Amino acid sequence: MALACSAMEKRLMIRAGIYGATGYTGFELIKLLHQHPQVQITFATARSAAGQRLSDVFPTLLDVPLIRAEDADLTSVDVVFCCLPHGTTVPTVQQALAAGTRVIDLSADFRLHHADDYARWYGNPHTAPELLKEAVYGLPELHRAHIRGARLVANPGCYPTSVILPLHPLVQAGLLADRTVIVDSKSGVSGAGRSLSLKTHFGETHETFSAYNIGRSHRHIAEMEQETGTQIIFSPHLLPVYRGILSTMYVNLIPGTEPDTVREAYGLFADEPFVRLLPAGRLPELRHVVHTNLCVIGLHAVDVAAGRYILVTVEDNLIKGASGQAVQNMNLMFGLDETTGLC
Ligand SMILES: NC(=O)c1ccc[n+]([C@@H]2O[C@H](COP(=O)([O-])OP(=O)(O)OC[C@H]3O[C@@H](n4cnc5c(N)ncnc54)[C@H](OP(=O)(O)O)[C@@H]3O)[C@@H](O)[C@H]2O)c1
Repeated sequence: MALACSAMEKRLMIRAGIYGATGYTGFELIKLLHQHPQVQITFATARSAAGQRLSDVFPTLLDVPLIRAEDADLTSVDVVFCCLPHGTTVPTVQQALAAGTRVIDLSADFRLHHADDYARWYGNPHTAPELLKEAVYGLPELHRAHIRGARLVANPGCYPTSVILPLHPLVQAGLLADRTVIVDSKSGVSGAGRSLSLKTHFGETHETFSAYNIGRSHRHIAEMEQETGTQIIFSPHLLPVYRGILSTMYVNLIPGTEPDTVREAYGLFADEPFVRLLPAGRLPELRHVVHTNLCVIGLHAVDVAAGRYILVTVEDNLIKGASGQAVQNMNLMFGLDETTGLC
């Protein structure tokens, strides 16, 4: 008993603060951190619900007071998660880093390495370009070593996670004959966040299906290209479900590349806890991954002689595409087993 107590006492407890706790990713993060054995939620901020409790906003058993961001004590935490809209996080990130607190930003504000790319895709100059150089793109399967030592981790976008992971092994193995990849993705409506908008309310999304921002206009293309070195033609779609992303990628490999050779390339992910390649003949479905931190990949040979293959991936946009990946990054940053608190 005494031994068990002293082991408990020595166990690291990470003190975490959450900005934007009443949003879709913020609430998902609170649920994950609540069941994490080595995290104590020290503060949670909200904008319109500041002064209330989380259980007032979402009538669950999870109860955290919601404070104004300005009232958060950054010296009381080891890490903060920014679950705020893109374009709003720079001042918070600057204050947190100045207070010696590590940051995991779920927005797009620090995902691109170059200020020129940020200005081109987001339409405004970046207000802290020096931090763009420092931020580590938080996809553990690609950047694990850098994430461990990072002060600032830019958590990847939901669509990009589902696209970069399946393309990365093919790029690493030098199997792409054509670096232009056509990507067709479908996302549940929660991908757009909780704020009201005409295009995402029930009457506009229920029992219909639509494409949007097709071609070269969606901002997530920037990080897909940065991380894979490919050129992406991207067609996102709004799927009338709450959560989940299914992405389909059409790739031209070196003519004659056999399916076994392609599968060997995915050996790169053999020890990855949250990435799976399905056996030949099987394709992934959303219902098998929602509420998990998994990204599951299916591979289909269309024409081996011509090198044409199709990849299909699924993930939960709110977990592996956002809050679960953020917890995976936190685990790495604080030297914990990467899978702690995740499934
Ligand atoms: N949803 C996804 O699947 C997903 C996936 C990956 C990354 N992300 C990124 O994660 C971030 C959060 O996304 P989300 O879907 O959770 O958004 P959301 O549901 O719209 O929630 C945003 C949160 O931030 C607060 N907020 C809104 N405007 C603010 C402002 N100007 N200053 C301070 N707080 C503000 C909101 O409070 P109020 O309710 O009071 O407005 C809410 O708590 C975004 O940058 C998004 O791009 C989202």
